[in-house]
Amino acid sequence: MHNDVEKILFTEEQIAARVRALGAELSRDYAGKNPLMLCILKGAFVFFADLTRAMDMPVAMDFMQVSSYGAGAVSSGNIRILKDTAVPVAGRDVIIVEDIIDSGNSLYRLKGLLKERGASSVKICAFLDKASRRTAPVAADYVGYVIEDAFVVGYGLDYAEKYRNFPYIGILKREIYEK
Ligand code: PRP
Repeated sequence: MHNDVEKILFTEEQIAARVRALGAELSRDYAGKNPLMLCILKGAFVFFADLTRAMDMPVAMDFMQVSSYGAGAVSSGNIRILKDTAVPVAGRDVIIVEDIIDSGNSLYRLKGLLKERGASSVKICAFLDKASRRTAPVAADYVGYVIEDAFVVGYGLDYAEKYRNFPYIGILKREIYEK
């Protein structure tokens, strides 16, 4: 375990097992279809790489980066597109892949946007779900783990752009984000 981490919440091995199960579930549910796996940058990139490789079928992939936050730390409720998809989503079965769902603001707006653009279906696959923090009316269709409201890093998740590369999911020491 690294110095700045208080506790490991999910080990690399636990994550791998959970991702394999999610991949198998998606492969069953989307058998015979041609889903568009949509990675929401940056946080989802590690989960996305593992999840898509855990799917036993050919899939299409695209990437988006959105931000629902203004200058401060509080959500503005609006979505800003920092990077848009390369292919049109109209007529596609889209699976949004996220590292974490918190207030749900980003995903609520994003799901609405993809529907507006004519996607045939839009489902959400989030590795972590801070269900108790939800304020927007949105739920993930596929979830790795429901977690308490803790400051988690690793497996794509950052604090001030650090720790995304840690292979496990850990709780950050309070002194790191309070100093
Ligand atoms: C995180 C996460 C989700 C969003 C969840 O992204 O990846 O996109 O916040 O929060 P919400 O449910 O309250 O909207 P962030 O904006 O931190 O960007 P990052 O993935 O680039 O770190």
